[in-house]
Amino acid sequence: MPFFAPVFQPLHAHSVCVFYPGSTESAGNGARDTRYIMADKREIILSGIRPTGRLHYGNYFGAIKNFVDLQSQDNTCYYFIADYHALTTITEREDFYQQTIEMLRTYVACGLDPVRSVIYRQSDLPCTAELTLLLGMITNIGFLARGTTYKDKMGKLEEAPGGVEGNPLSYGLLGYPVLMAADILIVRANKVPVGDDQRQHLEMAIDIAQRFNSRFGETLTVPEGIARNALRLPGLDGAAKMGKSEHNTLDLLDDAATVLKKIKSVPTTTDPEPLGTDSNHPDDVIARMPNSVGALYRLLNLLAPEDVYLDFVGKYRRGEKFYGTLKTTLAEYVSAFNAPIIEKYHAPGNSRETVEEFLRENARKVTPVALDTVEAVRAAMGIGHSLYRA
Ligand code: TYM
Repeated sequence: MPFFAPVFQPLHAHSVCVFYPGSTESAGNGARDTRYIMADKREIILSGIRPTGRLHYGNYFGAIKNFVDLQSQDNTCYYFIADYHALTTITEREDFYQQTIEMLRTYVACGLDPVRSVIYRQSDLPCTAELTLLLGMITNIGFLARGTTYKDKMGKLEEAPGGVEGNPLSYGLLGYPVLMAADILIVRANKVPVGDDQRQHLEMAIDIAQRFNSRFGETLTVPEGIARNALRLPGLDGAAKMGKSEHNTLDLLDDAATVLKKIKSVPTTTDPEPLGTDSNHPDDVIARMPNSVGALYRLLNLLAPEDVYLDFVGKYRRGEKFYGTLKTTLAEYVSAFNAPIIEKYHAPGNSRETVEEFLRENARKVTPVALDTVEAVRAAMGIGHSLYRA
């Protein structure tokens, strides 16, 4: 069985035929047949991930886990592979087809359902680029330059040999949040499941939508903000964020030997000291740990049963020596978590033709919704309908 068995079903974009059990009147007696009601009760969910390497635990617990949970509810889910966005960091020519396939395989291995969710490639929806351009016309450079990702990159370049002059940043990087806003607004998403590191980008998308609506009239759906307790998983080196470019990731496709090696090399040089009884709550105990030890505990909390987790918290609080057991125990939980994902990932591949047909079919599902938005935005700004498309 290939990694996904494509079943192409028509998707009625923003409404769904809902069956209400118990209301079985037939329409023939004059009463309204309430068995099937077209109800606009679905949430519109959208999120994307850049195809820049293997997925890690931050991606999974910050984003993909929520993608899977949300698709099992009564929602319309759009999940895409953000290949346009990847171009802001990839400097060499990449085989994006290959990267896209790997991302599709991982998505499906993690539980994304290619039938219930519309899984597409960002660049297969080129009208996103048009919406980016239109939104860019009302977005101030100062607003974009205050973005933390942009500022961080600027800061790094100032210290790099050649400085900012020698390593200029691209227009694409400055405009990254506008493209992200276009991704979200184009399908009229109201919920955007992302990790905490994307909070500012989502807030910028909300800002852009609000600014557009107040200038041109209510045209765009303003998405909800990110939950206050959204996750930001630290890296194995104890850095605040696990990330591909930080080279501090634990990956979903890491085999048992790699997992153990990575976890064993997490620095745990300082032995714990007994803590005062004022700090019994696990969060308080973790806050007093060196960052890299805290990172191990954050992972244990996500993977192990609560009693195992609390037992290790207690050991730390009492100042026992146990780092060896902590690491081997955590490595076992991680490997057990990865095993089924790895197995599914390695299921026989689909032919290139099948994958391309799958992507084409999904692009066809999302395109009418997206074009509707672009046409509405064009009309609101006074450009009017595209004669080419009409
Ligand atoms: P990307 O590819 O960097 O990350 C994909 C998802 O993984 C989450 N994530 C984390 N969550 C918690 N802890 C971490 N250490 C961690 N690292 C990554 C991210 O928050 C994200 O949800 N700009 C986006 C992709 C994108 C997008 C969009 C997302 C493009 N357009 C529209 C939502 C809506 C990005 O670079 O994600």
